[in-house]
Amino acid sequence: MEMNTAGLQSSQSDREFSQALAAVSLRCVECADLYPGVEAPPRQPRYRCDCGGVLDVEAVYHHPAQETSPLQEGYDALADTDLMPLAGAAWRQLFDERASLPPLWPMDAHSLLLDASGVWRYRELILPLPDQYVVSRPEGNTALYPVGIENCGDGRPGHRTIGDYAGVERLFLKHEGENPTGSFKDRGMTVGVSMARYIGARAVACASTGNTSASLASYAAQAGLPCLVFLPAGHVAPGKLAQSLAYGATTIQVAGDFDDAMRLVERVCNELGIYLLNSLNPYRVEGQKAIGFEILQQLDWQAPDWLVLPAGNLGNTSAIGKALLQAHQLGLIGHVPRIASIQAAGANPFYRSFVKGFTEREHVQAQTVATAIKIGDPVSFTRARHVIEQTQGVVEEVSDEEILAAKTVIDRSGIGCEPASAATLAGIRKLVERGVIKRDERIVGILTGHLLKDSQTGIPQQQAMMVEANVDAVRKMLHSFMR
Ligand code: F0G
Repeated sequence: MEMNTAGLQSSQSDREFSQALAAVSLRCVECADLYPGVEAPPRQPRYRCDCGGVLDVEAVYHHPAQETSPLQEGYDALADTDLMPLAGAAWRQLFDERASLPPLWPMDAHSLLLDASGVWRYRELILPLPDQYVVSRPEGNTALYPVGIENCGDGRPGHRTIGDYAGVERLFLKHEGENPTGSFKDRGMTVGVSMARYIGARAVACASTGNTSASLASYAAQAGLPCLVFLPAGHVAPGKLAQSLAYGATTIQVAGDFDDAMRLVERVCNELGIYLLNSLNPYRVEGQKAIGFEILQQLDWQAPDWLVLPAGNLGNTSAIGKALLQAHQLGLIGHVPRIASIQAAGANPFYRSFVKGFTEREHVQAQTVATAIKIGDPVSFTRARHVIEQTQGVVEEVSDEEILAAKTVIDRSGIGCEPASAATLAGIRKLVERGVIKRDERIVGILTGHLLKDSQTGIPQQQAMMVEANVDAVRKMLHSFMR
């Protein structure tokens, strides 16, 4: 048996895994051409179809209790397969058993480490990768805060201010800023960097508005892989830049915007054989699906009516939509929630296309205080369009003022988030005002990044009070505070 990164034995045979991986294929989202999922070295990994379209993972989902149903012999056979899912109950039981393990730091048992990860707990629906290649912190297991007027609970009047602000009775906020590097990106990165190890990548790279790079730098450091990140100079919040530097990534600031950095990194990766870990990489998207699965599990598999999230490069809209559609297809949930993607009004190419019925693909020169979503030409545009269409979803835009006002409400409630995340709450409020979301519907909003990621934007500017170090001076100062 092989040893994994934690020095432990892997539980499943490599043969079983290579069979399962052979059944993974990549489908072009534009022309539907099919490619093999894992290209053996020295072949370059493929990120795009020959037509230029981005690729989406297709796989056969195999419940471990399922009698050894004949696994696919290769990607060619996929199209002919009769995908007969096991009953949703079997999947729910599997995931619930894994989630009910004692809350230890199970670094001494690899299967427990996988079960403790809010990504690898759902591994059969993510990627059939042999255990020994998995690079995990572990990630996920983030809080789902009840913050609606009705579902908030007596002990949280502060949190109820969020429900009041949005005007909804049953609202939950899923705080993905509680991941190891402070954003949802860790969910995709554990899968992307594990894949990098599996294919024997010599180095990894990404372009980023700051969170992808922080996450990649951390996971690459853990895996001992050299890491290169391209950032739009002057447009990355200092906390995020500091993370990349601290984790030891070679950090390149591009004199341009995110869209320029994205074009450059794709070129550089293809020319130098560096493994690209933007959401152009289809496996990262598979990891981010786990946000959707974890929300459903936290709601005891009772799907909400709406799932609302901020949208930039559109990887997350694609991933969460895919998760919800798959969960429905596998019988894990009874209906598919509608997705609402929220863009900043100054960085709104997806919104502009949506209001035109997606007849045209729009590009903009992006401008917003929410630097994380300052993107004018999103890579996952088509993937996300399919999600909006298939979930009867909507796309909304919110102004910077609306984003900052919503951020203040979230921060003052004690939860806190970075500016881009607050687009979620601003979007819910707007959609409720417009009558698209009904006051009594069950809504989950995603907060994508931690408050500390951006300690400058939307934080009250007045100085903390200064006082002499004697009790009389403090008493005098606090006189008005206690009244
Ligand atoms: N919220 C935060 C905090 C983000 O960092 C991002 C994207 C998004 C929302 C939008 O997600 O791109 O999947 O639509 N950040 C990327 C980055 C672009 O480089 O960190 P998306």
